[in-house]
Amino acid sequence: LTPKDLAGEHLLVTAGPTQEEIDPVRFVSNHSSGKMGYAIARAARRRGAEVTLVSGPTCLDAPWGVETVRVASAVEMRAAVMAALPAATVVIKAAAVADYRPVVRATGKIKKNADSLVIELEKNPDILAELGGIKGERLLVGFAAETADLLENARKKLVAKNVDMMVANDVSLEGAGFHGDTNIARLLYRDGTSEELPLMTKNEMAALILDRVAELRKKAG
Ligand code: PMT
Repeated sequence: LTPKDLAGEHLLVTAGPTQEEIDPVRFVSNHSSGKMGYAIARAARRRGAEVTLVSGPTCLDAPWGVETVRVASAVEMRAAVMAALPAATVVIKAAAVADYRPVVRATGKIKKNADSLVIELEKNPDILAELGGIKGERLLVGFAAETADLLENARKKLVAKNVDMMVANDVSLEGAGFHGDTNIARLLYRDGTSEELPLMTKNEMAALILDRVAELRKKAG
């Protein structure tokens, strides 16, 4: 029997990539499938939490019993997250938000006339950093996708974005990160401690992350 240890909590989970349109037929994005975030949303619902899932474009079905809000761009994801925030007690940001978007979205399909094409990009809002500034009593869990200096880079993000727990995955490792059914991560905490997780399925990792969330919420009273 699944313990209902998250009853009374309202989890806001983000998942998937964002798509930043270049023109009506092209976009800038990344390899996120949404599997990690959806696994968290599903497991949290089973453990008794109310769950809102803000999802970028994925091929996955909305998890049963989870309010699923579908968005495309980072700007849309930010708006959906901010709208859902007031009800949330825990926020888990597994989405791979595009850091940049095209400055201009062409209204018509860009024609293949020139030999080279330059697309200027501008920074997207950093949703997690914004949440870090306004989270109040909420528990904030971030993800860090790195390809080098995992601990150092993830620790910097934990501090800069004011999160309570950072799930750091080295996405260059076989079996970790984007797309597959498994992940390898290290959990980083505010007190400087960390916990190394071996290769496991994304469902197993979701369960473990939620174990820690339940413990941290209990500790916070
Ligand atoms: O979806 P899957 O295929 O299952 O893959 C899972 C995953 C690799 C996407 C997931 O495990 C993961 O690492 N997600 C975070 C990816 C990411 O964008 O990492 P980052 O280090 O670039 O960003 C750090 C954190 O800031 C993330 O929580 C991200 O959601 C957030 N962020 C980043 C940029 C931005 N503009 N706004 C944000 O909120």
